[in-house]
Amino acid sequence: MLKLRSLNFTKSPLTTLALPVCTDHPLTADPALTAIIDQARQWQEFSGKPKERITIYNPAGIRAHRVILSGLGPRAEVTAESLRLYSGDLVNHAAKGGLTEITIAAPAPDTLELDTETVLRGLGEGAALANHAFEHYKSEPDRVILQKIDIAVTRHVSGKYKPLAEEVQTVCEGTLLARHWANLAPNDKPPEILAKEMAAEARRHKLKVRILSEKELTRQKFGALLAVGKGSDKPPRLVLMEHRASGARKTVALVGKGVTFDTGGINLKPSGSITGMKMDMAGSAAMAAALITVARLKPRVNVIGVMPLVENMPSGRATRPSDIVTAYSGKTIEINNTDAEGRLILADAMAYVNKKYKPDMIIDMATLTGACVVALGEKMAGVFSSDDLLSEQLVAAGRRTFERLWPMPIPEDYLEQLKSDCADISNVSKGRWGGAITAALFLKEFVGDTPWAHIDIAGPASIKKGNAYQTPGATGFGVRLMWDFIRKLETGN
Ligand code: BES
Ligand code: MN
Ligand code: ZN
Repeated sequence: MLKLRSLNFTKSPLTTLALPVCTDHPLTADPALTAIIDQARQWQEFSGKPKERITIYNPAGIRAHRVILSGLGPRAEVTAESLRLYSGDLVNHAAKGGLTEITIAAPAPDTLELDTETVLRGLGEGAALANHAFEHYKSEPDRVILQKIDIAVTRHVSGKYKPLAEEVQTVCEGTLLARHWANLAPNDKPPEILAKEMAAEARRHKLKVRILSEKELTRQKFGALLAVGKGSDKPPRLVLMEHRASGARKTVALVGKGVTFDTGGINLKPSGSITGMKMDMAGSAAMAAALITVARLKPRVNVIGVMPLVENMPSGRATRPSDIVTAYSGKTIEINNTDAEGRLILADAMAYVNKKYKPDMIIDMATLTGACVVALGEKMAGVFSSDDLLSEQLVAAGRRTFERLWPMPIPEDYLEQLKSDCADISNVSKGRWGGAITAALFLKEFVGDTPWAHIDIAGPASIKKGNAYQTPGATGFGVRLMWDFIRKLETGN
């Protein structure tokens, strides 16, 4: 658990105190801590460069068993992200050493070129996100989870930012929940099961939840979604979550792609591309976890979560390339490639939420196209929006959370590439270029006039190597991003 505490280092007994140190500027005015750092510098063991780390046992002048000094580099280069990496690395190091608690001395206010809130969020997020491992399937879990992570601050700061530690802890738990769902094996999360798990978790946090069964989806004519689900023995589901706040001025709909496994369908993916497709529901995991985060932190904004869940499989019942279906909106779609399935389930989910809830804005998140990964690489998502303000607000949230978004175009004239000879629209473009753009243009046809943004997370939904606060596998990308966006909507800036 993350907590802010004001401490007197000369008096408080601690097992482990972590001290971040810059090469060129003190981050503390505490004389005892300063003496310890000066001593380390004199020994030439340590100068505060990034990646440097030393442990001093029984340090003089304070009542900690050990002090871990780590380098942050020159102070002008310290960012929220370098603080996340610092505290993440520290927590991993502590866990490897079998420690169960740690106290991190936050840099004193105004010693860094960052505001106090940014510093505390960075330190807190890195620590909370690193304090976890996906060991669901391991017979012998081997990762130590720290029971206590305290961030030591001045009395003034602890008073002013008291709720922040709990907020950071909660949103990071959201990220970890999204990672958990995306990391689960596909045989353990067919739509029916995943819907139940999402619903149970949401109800535990007092969200209003509804699951539409296959029967209900058929009755309500979700033609595009059902076409994707048809090939699988596992029936599709649509999960709806609702957070209502009194005094809310805005209603936001969050829609997440939930393909529990994407084989490509009859347009079967080759082996190389099928790996990792258990995470094709990462968008729905992020949006469901964002709703749960919202339910716990209660912003004065109405938020609706919509998670269409399907398994995309080839079989004798599967949709054929060239099949024509009628979407929820009434538009007919020629399905020319069964591997372009994400846009089909999102089209129905978005048309539905738009009609039933009349939200002020719709944001969808999806592992939608390989083309977006070609364009932006694996660490950034593309954001497509017809609303410049919405797009800017999302990009700003991405900058603060380091869940980075890059604005992409949705040129109207490209829509021509989605023309179908027989139906209103084709689900794939005729040419192969600009695949992320034509996917976005397809989605745009199903949101009406509602301000809308589409976030393609095919790249950043997972990470191969991992980093200090992301284990290899699912990243939970999007939860911190959505929370940041929503909390700023509440305060109106
Ligand atoms: N789930 C994939 C996109 C994807 C690719 C996610 C790589 C993560 C990593 C999506 O359903 C898909 O198959 N897209 C096709 C679209 C094409 C058929 C128009 C693609 O990107 O190749
Ligand atoms: Mn696909
Ligand atoms: Zn897919």
